[in-house]
Amino acid sequence: MTDTSASALPTLRDQFLDPTGGLVYHLRAARHRRRLWAPFHATVARWLSSWQPGRTQLVIVGPNAGYALPAGFLARFERVTALEPDPIARWLLARRPDASRLVFDRLDCLATPDGLARLAARFPDAAVLFSNILGQLDAPGASWVELLARHLPAHPWASYHDVISTTTPPTRDTPCTVTDDATLDDVLAKFWRDGTLTVTDHATFRLGGAGPQGYAIWPITPRRWHLVEWVARPAGAD
Ligand SMILES: C[S@@+](CC[C@H](N)C(=O)[O-])C[C@H]1O[C@@H](n2cnc3c(N)ncnc32)[C@H](O)[C@@H]1O
Repeated sequence: MTDTSASALPTLRDQFLDPTGGLVYHLRAARHRRRLWAPFHATVARWLSSWQPGRTQLVIVGPNAGYALPAGFLARFERVTALEPDPIARWLLARRPDASRLVFDRLDCLATPDGLARLAARFPDAAVLFSNILGQLDAPGASWVELLARHLPAHPWASYHDVISTTTPPTRDTPCTVTDDATLDDVLAKFWRDGTLTVTDHATFRLGGAGPQGYAIWPITPRRWHLVEWVARPAGAD
């Protein structure tokens, strides 16, 4: 019988072949994370080290095996809860040396319009890190910008996420930070200077509303590049 009551929690089901992760992602990580992905991961490490959310509890949404998380990051918190549907990723994440305070939860906070409200209610004292997932899934019912602003105003949260992806190589890949008046075209012009650019738009530009945001290039394969945005919002912003 299917439980359709309003209180039924949307639950993460095990996903071995999820398009946002799964076996293909582990194979890519095995191949690329020590070289092709290393500069991008160094940028993620700098973003995370600058993020001091002032909470002892952390929820990470979509950490996979933690390939992008620097050594020691999980140990910064007294309790870390990971929401991750990939069983292989969970197995690998739990075996990191800094994972002694790691637990897993099955809440799917991204599947329904009230998912982030359920996340906020279940983890009232936690900071939340969306770990390269919000650009991978369509937002349910409203944009991610609206859902985050509506449901997580009392939580410090941060996210790095795909903004666009393309098969055109960038002419420059130095990470940068921009302020409020920069448009997406302005940001793209910092990395792609020549000719016309054909992109897949992941509908996440300026995910945190106002405030500075960081950008970096992630060459996910030798022939495909993602522009990744970093935003961090304090509790009570706006
Ligand atoms: C693109 S991968 C990012 C992996 C890793 N955080 C990184 O930066 O390399 C997206 C991850 O989100 C997970 N995922 C997919 N749907 C999810 C959901 N509804 N809630 C939490 N995680 C989800 C996938 O299993 C995958 O591990």
